[in-house]
Amino acid sequence: MAGWGLLLLLLLLVVSLAQGSSLLSGQRHRTRLQRDRQARNNVRPNIIIILTDDQDIELGSMQAMNKTRRIMEQGGTHFSNAFSTTPMCCPSRSSILTGKYVHNHHTFTNNENCSSPSWQAHHEPHTFAVHLNNSGYRTALFGKYLNEYNGSYVPPGWREWVALVKNSRFYNYTLCRNSVREKHGSQYPKDYLTDIITNDSINYFRSSKRMYPHRPVMMLLSHSAPHGPEDSAPQYSTAFPNASQHITPSYNYAPNPDKHWILRYTGPMKPVHMQFTNMLQRRRMQTLLSVDDSVDKVYNMLVETGELDNTYIIYTSDHGYHIGQFGLVKGKSMPYEFDIRVPFFIRGPNVEAGAINPHVVLNIDLAPTLLDMAGVDVPSDMDGKSILKLLDTDKPVNRFQVNKKGKMWRDSFLVERGKLLHKRSDGKDVAQEENFLPKYQRVKDLCQRAEYQSSCEQPGQKWQCVEDPSGKLSLYKCKGMASLYASRMQALMTSSVSQQWVGRVSDSFQWLIGCCKRGFCKRGCCKRGCCKEVKVKMLIAGVCLPHRCSILMNDTVRCDGGLYKSLQAWKDHKLHIEHEIETLQTKIKNLREVKGHLKKVRPEECQCNTPSYLSKNKGLFRLNAGRIYSLSKMPSKQKKQWLMKEQKRRKKLRKLLKRLRNNDTCSMPGLTCFTHDNQHWQTAPFWTMGPFCACTSANNNTYWCLRTINDTHNFIFCEFATGFIEYFDLNNDPYQLINGVSTLDRTALNQMHQQLMELRSCKGHKQCNPETGEPVQRRKKPNVKKPSSKSL
Ligand SMILES: *[C@@H]1O[C@H](CO)[C@@H](O)[C@H](O)[C@H]1NC(C)=O
Ligand SMILES: *[C@@H]1O[C@H](CO)[C@@H](O)[C@H](O)[C@H]1NC(C)=O
Ligand SMILES: *[C@@H]1O[C@H](CO)[C@@H](O)[C@H](O)[C@H]1NC(C)=O
Ligand SMILES: *[C@@H]1O[C@H](CO)[C@@H](O)[C@H](O)[C@H]1NC(C)=O
Ligand SMILES: *[C@@H]1O[C@H](CO)[C@@H](O)[C@H](O)[C@H]1NC(C)=O
Ligand SMILES: *[C@@H]1O[C@H](CO)[C@@H](O)[C@H](O)[C@H]1NC(C)=O
Ligand SMILES: *[C@@H]1O[C@H](CO)[C@@H](O)[C@H](O)[C@H]1NC(C)=O
Ligand SMILES: *[C@@H]1O[C@H](CO)[C@@H](O)[C@H](O)[C@H]1NC(C)=O
Ligand SMILES: *[C@@H]1O[C@H](CO)[C@@H](O)[C@H](O)[C@H]1NC(C)=O
Ligand SMILES: *[C@@H]1O[C@H](CO)[C@@H](O)[C@H](O)[C@H]1NC(C)=O
Ligand SMILES: *[C@@H]1O[C@H](CO)[C@@H](O)[C@H](O)[C@H]1NC(C)=O
Repeated sequence: MAGWGLLLLLLLLVVSLAQGSSLLSGQRHRTRLQRDRQARNNVRPNIIIILTDDQDIELGSMQAMNKTRRIMEQGGTHFSNAFSTTPMCCPSRSSILTGKYVHNHHTFTNNENCSSPSWQAHHEPHTFAVHLNNSGYRTALFGKYLNEYNGSYVPPGWREWVALVKNSRFYNYTLCRNSVREKHGSQYPKDYLTDIITNDSINYFRSSKRMYPHRPVMMLLSHSAPHGPEDSAPQYSTAFPNASQHITPSYNYAPNPDKHWILRYTGPMKPVHMQFTNMLQRRRMQTLLSVDDSVDKVYNMLVETGELDNTYIIYTSDHGYHIGQFGLVKGKSMPYEFDIRVPFFIRGPNVEAGAINPHVVLNIDLAPTLLDMAGVDVPSDMDGKSILKLLDTDKPVNRFQVNKKGKMWRDSFLVERGKLLHKRSDGKDVAQEENFLPKYQRVKDLCQRAEYQSSCEQPGQKWQCVEDPSGKLSLYKCKGMASLYASRMQALMTSSVSQQWVGRVSDSFQWLIGCCKRGFCKRGCCKRGCCKEVKVKMLIAGVCLPHRCSILMNDTVRCDGGLYKSLQAWKDHKLHIEHEIETLQTKIKNLREVKGHLKKVRPEECQCNTPSYLSKNKGLFRLNAGRIYSLSKMPSKQKKQWLMKEQKRRKKLRKLLKRLRNNDTCSMPGLTCFTHDNQHWQTAPFWTMGPFCACTSANNNTYWCLRTINDTHNFIFCEFATGFIEYFDLNNDPYQLINGVSTLDRTALNQMHQQLMELRSCKGHKQCNPETGEPVQRRKKPNVKKPSSKSL
């Protein structure tokens, strides 16, 4: 045996020298020889992960993918209960790379830690790519990496690196190709990203096998499809003319008074929105046709190279998607099945073909699974588990049932999602405050801490976090006199929506975020309004007065210059105008009533100024009795004039409002909204129905959920950061139409809350998968005395 090994070693040495590797250091040389020998004795499998962006399973997108289904469904195993633990791109992708829940690798409250220095320092060096490369795999990534990746470096662990800079696109993007930036335009034959991923990955695999026949390859094909801008290949731009798979029972089921805030707020869609959902479904499915081709080409390449039998292929998505569900025009990030469920198919050595496996698998299981496939030990701090053992061909395990050999698997997992304050769903920055985002970010982070949430009037309190009427957070110092006035200032600030406040009050009372102080508003008018100093007792504060619009003599509307430049100012002022209109309308309504009353009760000889004669429930009337009296005594011509003037005024206000609306940048405080117009899509099929606006998420949509699926239970229990709770028994309500929290008793609620709290802080695969492996003390098996209601 030893002699044979030595012979092989010598042989390989000769081969290596012939390949010119004599330039390598002795150390590297040896490890490579060892690896090659290992490979020859026990050829490790290739691994190909095909990851799509935003691909649902619940809305029927797989119907666009007949080739993929033939290859992966008929040729492999379909995991029918596959989930993303955080239904948002970047967090889910970093979970896929690290095998960890977001709370263990990401700053939960925002998306900005995506590809941040902290991610680069602490987590990127431990992705599955690093482990696989270290163990001898030839590793490659093609396509989207993380949303904020800017192409300035190649992350460790990737030998071949062809990564998209920033978020998903199909044309007009930049790739970082092994450190070199490569710009692409919009010519289909050379620029279409899906095809580049296909071509490059196939070329890489072939050449890798040519040069290193015994080295296994791991490739991640990370497609943009079916994410926006949903540009299909030209040959597919007429496909699916009547796509309607997205019209599920929860489609346009709105409003939902029993669900969390955004769903209470969201009403049924307008016709234009529904048209849009149909077009969106169609375009998404069209983009998937190219992915379908890609899967087919990669598959054929594996057949041609003879590597198919020794290659695992995994097909999945970072999270799901919704199109019109609960009236939400489009998006993700919601804790419902359409967003958290993903396609998940696997084929390869010993994977049963044509099987459906109902075990719960998660995005955090990918990294451990890949390591397991490669024969690499899975670090215990990965929260997920290798799913390989679920694939053992010792006959399919009965639905969810622990099989005879005592194979245990989780039945519960965590879904967690944090705020996304500064990014819109399309990834563009919200225009406001972009210049001092980092500072604001810090304030926001600090404001999360309990110690800054108590009032300055609390003894010992040093700082207090305050939210202004537009939802912006500020931290101020409680020192000396200041705290005495803190609440007064706060009252001043919040007394009127339109009154934006600011600035330094004194050395000992400092607003860190404000209008005047920020330097863009020294004097006169600024982005948020016109700056004015006000005295609050002995303190001076800067207050931004609202912008003003007026109607000129020639009937044109003119506003302060700043209003046309700042989205925030525009938004604030629009709110102010709406408020004003409401007030005026109330006034007019009251006046009308008075008028009607006066018409009805006009006795010839009345003592009109006797209050008792007047309507008793009209405070305003009584208060203004004198004036009304004089109005009623007004000559009718004058009265008519006055009313006409009032009507004209109202009409003008309405016109102004409409004008502002038509120029709508579509933004509401605390909401994530998007606009869509005829220019949005640059490729066919085109949108021709004009601009519209839709709001898709709220910034207080932070939640943690417990999702359980086992033989007897199938539910999701969600706690929102706002204190709201949702519960759905999916056995009875598969489309989550009714929040069933009121059907739960206190014990059940407490139990779920407890389990959720434990998952929220879990670390490592032991804590995060309480159902697995050795029995965990905490979880008592139910006393199964009565026979299970299930007959198998
Ligand atoms: C997929 O196959 C079904 C059934 O054969 C067929 O009706 C459908 O048109 C095919 N879809 C595509 C996109 O080829
Ligand atoms: C990013 O996450 C790390 C923890 O992993 C945290 O310490 C850091 O403050 C976060 N940075 C930002 C900008 O949120
Ligand atoms: C890219 O991001 C890195 C940090 O990840 C940063 O240091 C660098 O300045 C950025 N480069 C560009 C061109 O934005
Ligand atoms: C891959 O692993 C080898 C051996 O551990 C190491 O020398 C090399 O730098 C790694 N490559 C990358 C891109 O991380
Ligand atoms: C991919 O390869 C095919 C044929 O090999 C070629 O026709 C096509 O133009 C290539 N696409 C891109 C985007 O490079
Ligand atoms: C699509 O719908 C239109 C109008 O409803 C109908 O005329 C057309 O035949 C449909 N096309 C297909 C391929 O079903
Ligand atoms: C209306 O009057 C303003 C200022 O007097 C002027 O700038 C503007 O051009 C006029 N607009 C029209 C439509 O005449
Ligand atoms: C806003 O509306 C006005 C008039 O309705 C129009 O002239 C102007 O171009 C619009 N601005 C934008 C940015 O759409
Ligand atoms: C959630 O945010 C919206 C928009 O800012 C706000 O109107 C609503 O009151 C918030 N809900 C809760 C419960 O805080
Ligand atoms: C790409 O950019 C060019 C030039 O700006 C533009 O004409 C074209 O419409 C863009 N194509 C897409 C698909 O965005
Ligand atoms: C399913 O989960 C529920 C809730 O955790 C638990 O009470 C029940 O015993 C489980 N059923 C089985 C068969 O494991």
